[in-house]
Amino acid sequence: MHVLVTGGAGYIGSHTVKELLQAGYKVTVLDNLSRGHRAVARVLPGAEFVWGDIADRELVGGLLRTRNIRAVLHFAALSLVSESVAEPSLYYHNNVVKGLSLLEAVREAGVPYFIFSSTAAVYGEPVQVPIEEGHSLVPTNPYGATKLSFEEALRWYGVAYGLKYIILRYFNAAGADPEGELGEDHQPETHLIPLVLQAALGLRPKVTIFGTDYPTPDGTCMRDYIHVTDLAAAHVLALRALEGELLSGAYNLGNEQGYSVREVVEVARRVTGRNFPVEEGARRPGDPAVLVASSRRIREELGWRPRYGDLETIVRTAWEWHRRHPEGYGDGTKTGFHD
Ligand code: UFG
Repeated sequence: MHVLVTGGAGYIGSHTVKELLQAGYKVTVLDNLSRGHRAVARVLPGAEFVWGDIADRELVGGLLRTRNIRAVLHFAALSLVSESVAEPSLYYHNNVVKGLSLLEAVREAGVPYFIFSSTAAVYGEPVQVPIEEGHSLVPTNPYGATKLSFEEALRWYGVAYGLKYIILRYFNAAGADPEGELGEDHQPETHLIPLVLQAALGLRPKVTIFGTDYPTPDGTCMRDYIHVTDLAAAHVLALRALEGELLSGAYNLGNEQGYSVREVVEVARRVTGRNFPVEEGARRPGDPAVLVASSRRIREELGWRPRYGDLETIVRTAWEWHRRHPEGYGDGTKTGFHD
């Protein structure tokens, strides 16, 4: 079966392409390299990489039809909460307007299956933890709101046009390919684990803990970190479920355990053996105190089991990548569309 992966040169997308290839799927990647990395194509020669935009209807329609694509896995989106608060127009344009253009191309070409990268940010401030899929959906930032808009469109496309879809709501993706081929490289980097590891490498002077007065045991925010390869494997399970014509729906993906910012720092100090400087700072606007998933549904319905669930393994795989690739993929400034 031939699948199209949008955003397959990005962090989660690239790890998923690797899992798909290992599972025997034929993969075409569509990425505009606005956030992804050209180097991923060299690492994953088994996939075909097309540099282009999801909103290019002619290009997308052509890819879907000429390759007889049966499933689209849609990762191509912007995903930074603070950027989305500053620039909602960018987020609505990329995540909703362009996303809907892709969905229209999918409908037109009659592609039967769709897997969507969603986020815990669709829930907003949790009223109940661990968060189950039936939790209220009240995003507190444009990033979460745009992901929710697309989820809703998918649902109605499913009802009206029979599109079968699975929505995967990721909690905090972290870690790197255990074989060391792929890793996390964002420009600019805003995520806790890579920042901490860059500080351990001396690439940053220090790490700032955003808020120490949260209602948590040590006063810092708690998050549910999930290994990116475990996330990637869930996409293969989702694809098989769709091929088996299981029902459409949404699934959380997390390890069901929260770690505080201080705990992440401690684990990173242990794993790296380096005592990098840490300072305490103000809260970052929009951060909920605790985000922890219930992943019961995906475990029970799709048989998902994390292989790299403990935080030490997550941090160790990330550390291996960062040590070997202190400059990330080393491709500096990204090129634009249709490169
Ligand atoms: N943090 C710090 N210092 C830093 C960076 C982060 O203390 O320098 C803290 C944050 O305040 C937060 C935790 O570390 O409490 C994790 O922060 P990240 O930026 O790594 O991740 P987020 O939890 O903010 O966001 C991630 C994804 C989002 C997604 C969200 C859903 O980046 O796309 O998880 O759980 F929406």
